Amino acid sequence: MKAILVKQPGGSEQLILGEYEKPKPGPTELLVKVHATALNRADTLQREGKYPPPKGASPILGLELAGVIEEAGANCSKYKKGDKVFGLLPGGGYAEYAIIDEAMAMPIPENLSFEEAAAIPEVFLTAWQALVWLGKLQPGERVLIHAGASGVGTAAIQLARALGAEVLVTASETKIQACLDLGAHKAINYKQVPFDKEVLDYTNNEGVDVIVDFIAGPYFNQNIDCLRLDGRLIILASLGGGKVDHVELRKVLAKRLQIMGSTLRSRSKEYQIKLTQDLAAFALPLFRSGKLKPVIDSVYSWENVAEAHRYMEQNKNTGKIVLRIG
Ligand SMILES: NC(=O)c1ccc[n+]([C@@H]2O[C@H](COP(=O)([O-])OP(=O)(O)OC[C@H]3O[C@@H](n4cnc5c(N)ncnc54)[C@H](OP(=O)(O)O)[C@@H]3O)[C@@H](O)[C@H]2O)c1
Repeated sequence: MKAILVKQPGGSEQLILGEYEKPKPGPTELLVKVHATALNRADTLQREGKYPPPKGASPILGLELAGVIEEAGANCSKYKKGDKVFGLLPGGGYAEYAIIDEAMAMPIPENLSFEEAAAIPEVFLTAWQALVWLGKLQPGERVLIHAGASGVGTAAIQLARALGAEVLVTASETKIQACLDLGAHKAINYKQVPFDKEVLDYTNNEGVDVIVDFIAGPYFNQNIDCLRLDGRLIILASLGGGKVDHVELRKVLAKRLQIMGSTLRSRSKEYQIKLTQDLAAFALPLFRSGKLKPVIDSVYSWENVAEAHRYMEQNKNTGKIVLRIG
């Protein structure tokens, strides 16, 4: 089959369209003819050789797919050949064919295209895990979502609103309006003003209950200052760096804060299946009704995958960058 391969670890110029062995489905797996996949930061890191795929996963890039089932394993009972499915992968999405465990696959809502479906799994599952499983976000609570216009951020804004929370975000100037359009109550241009001051002004010095953070080091102390009593900080990435020079831990103590970190890809298959099923029960009806929307920045043909990677690395996207396969 055709697949995007990495010639050798390095920049986007290392990505080539080549040939790779077509995978075979195990008894509980589906072989899917991939119509679309989407980019994730993990892909750029894996391309550079800094983020090896988990044991047993395909070495091909690609953490999500949308496509049509070509073959269902002997013990599969939920889906059959010809069904349209989408879902999260441990790897292998940048290819004509990919394998997904039947329990990880979700049916594509009739109103969504393959491109739209491919833009959902990684970011909505990550946002759901952060807001609901880790952050325990409750209706009426306040959440601050950093990088609000990122793929995960755009999913988190919509899910938090659907959960009945008040939503604050940070984003760079050109992306502020997009965050408001998605339902954020307050969007802070973090390059213009210190976000902690804005958060505290907006909330009458009360702060927020949950923070979803991708920046880490440079935001840590400001995040602690923005959290209210019993607040929860969920760290999902360290785009700004991993070190903090000085931390006043007494604030963590006095406010009874919880600080959590997580990576979705390192979770067990059982965990990912439960998370997928939990999100699907909540979100699929909302995707069908249009209340939730995949946010697509751009769609690239897979011949232009290198250009798509460069675009993501320049922080230009609002929402997902999708790759059309074949
Ligand atoms: N832990 C997990 O399970 C998990 C799962 C999925 C993704 N992630 C991680 O979450 C992050 C977001 O993923 P994504 O796919 O949604 O990313 P994305 O769509 O590429 O968006 C990332 C955005 O973050 C902002 N940003 C980048 N560097 C920054 C910095 N130093 N300081 C402040 N803002 C910065 C930029 O937006 P502005 O222009 O607004 O600054 C950028 O467009 C990535 O690091 C990814 O690896 C983690």
